[in-house]
Amino acid sequence: MSDDPLYRDPELVDFYDLENGVWDDFGFCIELARDARSLLDLGCGTGQLAAMSADGQRRVAGVDPAAAMLEVARKRDGGDKVRWVEAPAETVRLGEKFDLIMLTGHAFQVFLTDEAISAVLTTIAAHLEPEGRFIFDTRNPLCQEWREWVPDTSQRIVPHPVYGDVKAWNDVAFDDATAIATYQTFYEIAATGKTLSASSQIRFMGKPRLEALLAEAGLRADRWLGDWKGEPFHEQAKEIIPIGRLG
Ligand SMILES: C[S@@+](CC[C@H](N)C(=O)[O-])C[C@H]1O[C@@H](n2cnc3c(N)ncnc32)[C@H](O)[C@@H]1O
Repeated sequence: MSDDPLYRDPELVDFYDLENGVWDDFGFCIELARDARSLLDLGCGTGQLAAMSADGQRRVAGVDPAAAMLEVARKRDGGDKVRWVEAPAETVRLGEKFDLIMLTGHAFQVFLTDEAISAVLTTIAAHLEPEGRFIFDTRNPLCQEWREWVPDTSQRIVPHPVYGDVKAWNDVAFDDATAIATYQTFYEIAATGKTLSASSQIRFMGKPRLEALLAEAGLRADRWLGDWKGEPFHEQAKEIIPIGRLG
């Protein structure tokens, strides 16, 4: 959702990199991008992956509609080597094609309707070089990961450089009809006596529907992974990760 305070409110954005380090997805994408001369990161957020991938030789662009996320991206090491574009992935048109297009960190799940997902897939198709590839991740609905996003199992301490230890937790409601999880994120900052919170929505889409929408957008997956270590997809896999091209 483009207006999610988690990505729009600078106080909450402050917590994004503290909660989301460099995981297997970045390592996998960097390896996949080894020979790519041009990279597009859609829903790039605070720009870690795009900035890590930019070596000053290849063309790298990062697209995200959240100004506060891009503000962090611009300032990070390597941020000056990336073209940052503040725009929604559904409609952005950069007038360039790319060897690799990536959406990481489950950015794909912020698109809540079939129309929005089709628009994003069309954006991917419009920006791929003839031999270019795309990759993204979406959580497998069959694993019902949202069930863990309740206060009991989600409580954690986030060490903040200014506020010290901050207590964080989530809560969630899942709508079976739409497969949309509406989840709350809370940060209780003892140092200021303030609790920050946000309500966010993400959609869970199964592989069969995703496959159909890819085909409608003129894309096809050559490989389906089930995690970022490179295991093939299976019914109980945590992730659904298509790696594909123009179809
Ligand atoms: C969970 S974050 C992932 C960020 C980054 N890809 C990563 O791996 O850390 C989801 C991102 O999707 C972005 N987003 C929300 N609506 C979007 C849209 N319509 N088009 C593109 N990105 C969007 C948010 O602003 C946020 O930066």
